[in-house]
Amino acid sequence: MTRPPLVDAAAPVRIVLVGAGLMGRAWLGALDRSQDAEVVGIVDLDQDLARAAADEAGLPGLVVGTSVTSVAEATGAHAIVNVTVPAAHLPIADEALSAGLSVLSEKPLAPTVAAALLSAAAADRAGRLLMTSQNRRYYDSLTAYRAALGEIGEIALLTTEYTREAHFPGFRETMAHPLLVDMAIHAFDVARHLLGTDPVSVTCDTSNPPWSWFEGDSVANALFEFEGGARYRYTGTWTTRGLETSWNGAWRASGSHGSATWDGETALALERVDPATGESTGLESPPLRTTSPEEIDGSLADFVDALRTGRTPDTEAHRNILSLAMVEAAVRSADTGRRIEVADVLEDAYATALTTDAPQHLREALASWGSVSAGLHLHQTVDA
Ligand SMILES: NC(=O)c1ccc[n+]([C@@H]2O[C@H](COP(=O)([O-])OP(=O)(O)OC[C@H]3O[C@@H](n4cnc5c(N)ncnc54)[C@H](O)[C@@H]3O)[C@@H](O)[C@H]2O)c1
Repeated sequence: MTRPPLVDAAAPVRIVLVGAGLMGRAWLGALDRSQDAEVVGIVDLDQDLARAAADEAGLPGLVVGTSVTSVAEATGAHAIVNVTVPAAHLPIADEALSAGLSVLSEKPLAPTVAAALLSAAAADRAGRLLMTSQNRRYYDSLTAYRAALGEIGEIALLTTEYTREAHFPGFRETMAHPLLVDMAIHAFDVARHLLGTDPVSVTCDTSNPPWSWFEGDSVANALFEFEGGARYRYTGTWTTRGLETSWNGAWRASGSHGSATWDGETALALERVDPATGESTGLESPPLRTTSPEEIDGSLADFVDALRTGRTPDTEAHRNILSLAMVEAAVRSADTGRRIEVADVLEDAYATALTTDAPQHLREALASWGSVSAGLHLHQTVDA
């Protein structure tokens, strides 16, 4: 899907950073490193924090304020990077989109699928790009792993084993499902990226060991079915002791013509097997090309390219909602002990969003979809 370019390709994209907290500071670094984007203002409810962030970045003259609309107007911005807390993602995105700006949002797009649907409707209404930064899609090694999966035929089983001893003092320690809601979305989104099909259903079991420092469940086992029959299994913990995996987890894919593994960092292995003879061609290490920007630098480059070309990126809001729906379905399965259909999560969220106290212009834009599957363009081929 393409749209007319939203910015001129000749000049850097002018960006207001909204949210100058922990992750906002990381985004200032990415904006500084980019040749194609420049930060022109900072918005935060905490003005001292915003000013300190500008000073630390060596940009003491930067426009700082509490209003997205005012700072964008004062700076002639094209877009914002939304790095506020999840509860503020929808109102900030709506304000920016209504002012004619495009939005690159930190994950999650919104705290619930219902709020994410309203965000996507806000982008439709404005005719601007709303994209989620799924920064864990952008690794040269993941690009090589995805290519390796293309060599092993039909995938029957994809697995992630993720074990970290994670200490995050703050809100994550009191969430009901910290691992699923705050972290597993990265792996679920990468699974969609690798399989290239949509999730259908999930059964999920969560638990919390006696030594856990989290109030909510820090261990999760989720088994997804994808369209076409492939299964994706995620086993994760934030309270492991020893033998940690990488932050991306350890991945394995079993296909009709072989298997491939990725350690979530740089180690890849591929073994091709001839299905007719059963003969292996031996172990290969697919080569890495280290040319692309990684992590949030990769998200930023993808966003800028999409603005300049009119291309719809794979993590554009409508497309990204399925990753969030996987999280919500897994949580619902863990809470009820039942297998949950992703389509039911989407239908329920659509009904909820239409009856919330969200602004009327957003509910009207969402109602104009007619149905959630029509609005999300489900079952249509996405860009490769
Ligand atoms: N992709 C990743 O690897 C990664 C890592 C950490 C955090 N995150 C995400 O980044 C986002 C921010 O996380 P954080 O750890 O930086 O949080 P934080 O609490 O450190 O910072 C959030 C900032 O947003 C500001 N803010 C809140 N509401 C606002 C509003 N309405 N208008 C303007 N400013 C507002 C707060 O004052 C605060 O400075 C979250 O969505 C989080 O999930 C992503």
